[in-house]
Amino acid sequence: MATPRGEFKSRLGFLFAAAGSAVGLGNIWGFPTQAASNGGAAFLITYLAMAFVLAYPVLMAELLIGRHTHQNMVTALSSLPRRAFWRRIGALTGIGGLITASLILSFYGIVSGWMLGFAASYPLDAAGLSGQAQWLTGFGISRNLLLMLVFMALTMAVVLGGVEEGIERWSRRLMPLLIVTLISLALYVLTLEGAVTGLKVYLLPDFGKILSSELLLDALGSAFFSLSLGVGTMLIYGSYLSDKVHVPSIGAQVALLDVGIAVLAGFLILPAMYVADARGVAIFNEAGGLLSEDTLIFSVLPGLFETMDTAGVLLATAFFLLMSIAALTSSISMLEVPVAYLIEQHRMARGTATLLAGGTIATFSSLIVLNFDTLFGAVITLSTRYSQPLLGLLVCLYAGWLWQRDALLAELKKTDALAEHRLFWRVWPLYVKWLCPVIIGIILAQSVL
Ligand code: PFF
Repeated sequence: MATPRGEFKSRLGFLFAAAGSAVGLGNIWGFPTQAASNGGAAFLITYLAMAFVLAYPVLMAELLIGRHTHQNMVTALSSLPRRAFWRRIGALTGIGGLITASLILSFYGIVSGWMLGFAASYPLDAAGLSGQAQWLTGFGISRNLLLMLVFMALTMAVVLGGVEEGIERWSRRLMPLLIVTLISLALYVLTLEGAVTGLKVYLLPDFGKILSSELLLDALGSAFFSLSLGVGTMLIYGSYLSDKVHVPSIGAQVALLDVGIAVLAGFLILPAMYVADARGVAIFNEAGGLLSEDTLIFSVLPGLFETMDTAGVLLATAFFLLMSIAALTSSISMLEVPVAYLIEQHRMARGTATLLAGGTIATFSSLIVLNFDTLFGAVITLSTRYSQPLLGLLVCLYAGWLWQRDALLAELKKTDALAEHRLFWRVWPLYVKWLCPVIIGIILAQSVL
């Protein structure tokens, strides 16, 4: 197959792209409230441990398999084992990854569209177009459809540009913008009355909560979703990585950036919630817990922005743009999974592959919009709760059991002649062989029960 493959032009380009995939809605609307409701810094420590002890090894499995094979997930997993049976299962696992990435994108695209709608509504409202602004923020089929289609069109436009001119170029532009916006917003909110209370709730550890097994499993699940594992996004990005880059260290940097941005988001979200509280906006649910997820984003924070005048418009627009950027750098990595497969396996041109994959996913998203109550929650549960950990487990098995040890070591030696003497080589193979599959198996069993 003589398709010329893309390759990230620079180490930094890869770092921003992979961190862009990892940093998404999960980091900003999921992590901070989860931490606040589950023991503050105690949750943070658990989450960090999970991210580095368990999720990082799986991330490394994907990146290394990708870099070694320089192929998409379907052909990559089917080329590792010697026996035909395992090759076939590898291809099926790859197809499972491709379908799961597409399913995640199909609901992610809807939620991301809402972010775009909110981002546009504040300036429109300030310009006197309050009818349009209200339409953009009110729940409705035509609004949900239109915004999803706009977001999917943006995603497709980036992926259409290919690895260097699309994914790398836009990640290099958007990720620094995301980090600067996040820090500026947090610094501003921290000056407002009530912010310090939020900071305390976020940071004071309550170690009583850390021991619960449910919390441990929760933290692990979030770490997996947050690092985009199991569905082949990291594998395909790894496959575009030059043979000169040292994978264990760049993988660690991706994980650090992902966790770092989640932690940073806590310095914005928690203080903002308590500023809202000080201004009379409800931030607790009936059970006394902090409001979270969609209620937090679409009701608590807008409530806070309304209590401010011009600053509120600026703050709100910046915040929802931040969310839209975080979503876009994640969605392009999801779309790249089926697109790369169509290009490499079916010899399609990138344009055709992007239109076909993006069009199919947008069509499925439209079905979800039209049958929201039945499909939306079901697709999220199926793809993130069951499919993602199961595929993560299979990727570990391929890296740990079906990849020849010599070939694996040769892969690491590409950039480090002394690879076999490193701690990574002594620890990581054992991890992906035994520890990761067992732990993921436990989570899965738990979620099935
Ligand atoms: N990591 C993204 C987030 O935290 O929002 C979500 C995600 C992206 C999941 C890409 C899966 C994926 F393939």
